[in-house]
Amino acid sequence: MKEKTIVITGASSGIGLATGKYLAARGYKVYGLSRRAAENSPINFISCDVTDRAQVAAAFAQIEGDIHAVINNAGVGIGGPVEYATPEDIKKIIDVNIIGVVNVCQAAIPRLRETRGKIINIGSVAGDLIIPFQIFYSLTKAAVHALTQGLAMELKPFGIKVTTVLPGDTKTSFTANRVTNEGDAIYKDRVEKSIAKMEKDEQEGKDPVTVAKTIHRVLKRRNPPLKVTVGFEYKTLVFLNRLLPQKFVNAIIYRMYGGE
Ligand SMILES: NC(=O)c1ccc[n+]([C@@H]2O[C@H](COP(=O)([O-])OP(=O)(O)OC[C@H]3O[C@@H](n4cnc5c(N)ncnc54)[C@H](OP(=O)(O)O)[C@@H]3O)[C@@H](O)[C@H]2O)c1
Repeated sequence: MKEKTIVITGASSGIGLATGKYLAARGYKVYGLSRRAAENSPINFISCDVTDRAQVAAAFAQIEGDIHAVINNAGVGIGGPVEYATPEDIKKIIDVNIIGVVNVCQAAIPRLRETRGKIINIGSVAGDLIIPFQIFYSLTKAAVHALTQGLAMELKPFGIKVTTVLPGDTKTSFTANRVTNEGDAIYKDRVEKSIAKMEKDEQEGKDPVTVAKTIHRVLKRRNPPLKVTVGFEYKTLVFLNRLLPQKFVNAIIYRMYGGE
């Protein structure tokens, strides 16, 4: 049988690299779009900044033949209080985490129409459970969840399936790459405590291969769900978040990440 072609953004490290390797080992032809290449990987690297529409279009033009699925994985984080977030940092996270996903969807949809393929967007548990001092990250991931839900309806007549995969804490270089602005003395101690807790949780988090396995399961399903959370404990959290009063959920998250 002909191998299936998958495009994944942000395949130079972390979840994207683990997923690219995992899928390549299972017979998929994998193209990875990122600014840096991963050394010694089976992924066909195409240099691309997802925030640049022209670069995304040029990257897709290099991929010949059918495309069966696109995984929007590239993402960045910023930490710190909303009051002190700089316009540059806000623009950057929106550009990568939202506009980048839109750019890739726009380039991919005409190709996926041909194959009745799949779009898998990497959201986050933090897109459902809003985290203080990570609010811009939470809101970009909430936007990704909304994009998935809406696109699933727009693309339904074409047979294109759209799913968000929600990882919880995962041990990757995302932690080191997060840009944190502590603000001034009013926030400093709380931001430090909150981000330190977040960083510890991430670095003690799941192996990115766990996320790769979830993505693979979604790829194999003829009719995947709209949202798939990675891991039993995070599935439980996301489920409880839907059932419990928002104020109660906020009180718990505040105890964890409020920095008091
Ligand atoms: N780690 C976690 O705890 C966690 C939890 C939930 C969700 N997630 C999500 O999982 C996804 C992957 O993150 P990760 O944890 O694997 O982090 P990571 O190791 O820092 O990887 C991020 C990837 O995004 C790429 N990227 C960043 N900006 C880009 C741009 N402008 N154009 C193209 N590629 C770009 C990076 O490649 P280049 O720098 O080479 O361009 C890199 O390959 C993100 O969407 C993140 O929000 C992570």
